[in-house]
Amino acid sequence: MQGLHKYLSGDGDKMIELRIDDTKVEVKAGATVLEAALQAGVYIPNLCYHPDIPPIGSCRLCIVEIDGVRGVPTSCTTPAKEGMVVRTDTPKLQNLRKDILWLILSAYPGDPEKASQLRKVADWIGRKDLLPGSVPKPANILPAFDDPFFVRDLDKCILCGRCVRMCQDVRKTGAIGLVNRGIKTVVGTGGNAPLKDSGCKFCLACVEVCPSGALYDKEKLEEPERAKKLLPCVNTCPAGIDIPRYVRLIAAGKYQDALEVIREKVPFPLTLGYACNHACEEACRRGSLNSPISIRALKRFVAERDSGRWRSKLVIEPSTGKQVAVVGAGPGGLTAAWYLRQAGHAVTVFEALSEPGGMMRSVIPAYRLPRKVLAGEISEITAIGVKIVTNSEVKSIDVLFEQGFDAVFVAVGAPSGMKMGAEGENDPRIMDGICFLRAVSFGKKTDIAGEVLVVGGGNVAMDVARTALRVGSKKVTVLYRRTREEMPALPEEVEEAVKEGVKFRFLTAPEKISSSGKKLGVECILMKLGEPDAGGRRRPVPIEGSNIVIKADRIITAIGQRPAVPDGFALPLDKKCCIQADPETMACSRKGVFAGGDAVSGPASIIEAVQAGRKAAVSIDKYLGGSGVIDRPVIPAEEPPFCLGRDESFCSCERAGLPSISAAKRRSNFDLAELSLKEKDAIDAAKRCLRCELRLKISKAPMPPDKKE
Ligand code: FES
Repeated sequence: MQGLHKYLSGDGDKMIELRIDDTKVEVKAGATVLEAALQAGVYIPNLCYHPDIPPIGSCRLCIVEIDGVRGVPTSCTTPAKEGMVVRTDTPKLQNLRKDILWLILSAYPGDPEKASQLRKVADWIGRKDLLPGSVPKPANILPAFDDPFFVRDLDKCILCGRCVRMCQDVRKTGAIGLVNRGIKTVVGTGGNAPLKDSGCKFCLACVEVCPSGALYDKEKLEEPERAKKLLPCVNTCPAGIDIPRYVRLIAAGKYQDALEVIREKVPFPLTLGYACNHACEEACRRGSLNSPISIRALKRFVAERDSGRWRSKLVIEPSTGKQVAVVGAGPGGLTAAWYLRQAGHAVTVFEALSEPGGMMRSVIPAYRLPRKVLAGEISEITAIGVKIVTNSEVKSIDVLFEQGFDAVFVAVGAPSGMKMGAEGENDPRIMDGICFLRAVSFGKKTDIAGEVLVVGGGNVAMDVARTALRVGSKKVTVLYRRTREEMPALPEEVEEAVKEGVKFRFLTAPEKISSSGKKLGVECILMKLGEPDAGGRRRPVPIEGSNIVIKADRIITAIGQRPAVPDGFALPLDKKCCIQADPETMACSRKGVFAGGDAVSGPASIIEAVQAGRKAAVSIDKYLGGSGVIDRPVIPAEEPPFCLGRDESFCSCERAGLPSISAAKRRSNFDLAELSLKEKDAIDAAKRCLRCELRLKISKAPMPPDKKE
């Protein structure tokens, strides 16, 4: 916000001059005496004043003496005038302020919090030097903890009215006001209704401006983590997409602007709209109120409405004469290629498979990510001059340097499935999940039929189970050694699998596999949950003597993957076979070689690979002599409107479920399972946002300089 000027009728750029405590001060006409003083570095104690709120002069601490003016006017409500002579710290004012402070503190339980504005102002005025009889009153209203984000401790309210004016005059939400009369006056809601039923939008501006500690966050929000905690969606998105901004633009019907905001950080908005694991939604603060914003579905909604306007804003720098080889055409490699090409480098991407896309093409099933969606976004990358060479497996980095490449980015992913470690698992009827999904994705025969056991609890296991149904399995059962709560798979993926008929056996782990007639006999041991492991999930503990045998025709394992980096790359690997690279610069120990994505981190998400590609592009561009600046804002930043307005149903509005094809219709084919949001639903979904970013725009209240104790 821009401070007080927006509430006062100034005279444009006209300047006036006045004297404050013998200092000549020049300010814009329309400023108040308090503003003029603060601007000149003269501190006048104040509490009910806040730069973003219309002043009312209720606390009276900011009183001053002005030549020719009777009494002691409040400086926060008195307009500065040409030639005015103001005194701010005379003995008379000091005594009056002590009286006012005594009145405030005698109704306050205990000492105000050290960090609060009230405590700082009181210390400045002389808290320990008040009139005799200044005994803080005991607390008599219990703090309210029933709101999701903050505590209301009304005993500590000094009725400065900052929260009420913020809610009523700035946000125009009108959820809170001064209720009751006389000494019973408190800040509250109409009819003492819960905040969520009073039109509150939980923007938390009231908490931000409270000077007395009457309203405070449940979660500690201290620097330097404060902004991260207040804006968890942006800070959870590995690529740092400005989610609040694009959601806000969708709510305003500005779809192309919203898409350009997404495109500032990623070249795969539509792919991510279909298949991102959306950690941002898990972090969304609206989830604490009822349910998170449908961030992924909104991304898909705007990306599906792409008019192509962003293309006209794309800048490809003149050729630098440098050549970059990218090994692996997955999300990390293609992202790096996209940004490096824009920086003017010639980029060639080498892909071992017959089509680019990495895991997006070979592992994510077409019912979650249609092939033409991915192909369309990859064609945008080749359209700016990135060369993709398929069926081309790189075995040596030296050869790339010999061919004239100046830098190499290794983004070969983590395509090797892990073994279960169970006896008998080399039976040909046991297949690795990644190999299975890749075979199906590329139209190869898999001979999956009959009863299939899928071992694992992650997203790949869900993809395997649902795909197995689609390619002819009669019955698919997922074996997982913990319970549903501990499954790493996204809850919606598990739900969709259940709807399609996938069965689950929890707390069950295979130990030995044998051939029992035509079927496989899978000897499993049952588990119970023990203490949490390092990741916080409860550890599975075998129950002695609980072995059972499950019959199956095929077993598909999906218990993790690891990279398969060719020895010819001569890159140091860690004990999980991941390439060792600097996590920030992606630089490897070999000069000119960078690595990122799953090949470095182990299996992760598309958006994490995209971010690795972004980081690599920055470092490689710098290595090749460029600036390393890859983010080029395409739409100018707009000031978010700080008025929210009233909407009685705001809090009760739940996240709408996404439309989908019925399980019976989809379980035998690879047609897209989840449908798009309709326009009205998308706008409604975007309007549910709590607009957390607005709190970060609120100005800081002026604090006393460090002077008096
Ligand atoms: Fe001016 Fe309170 S009356 S700050």
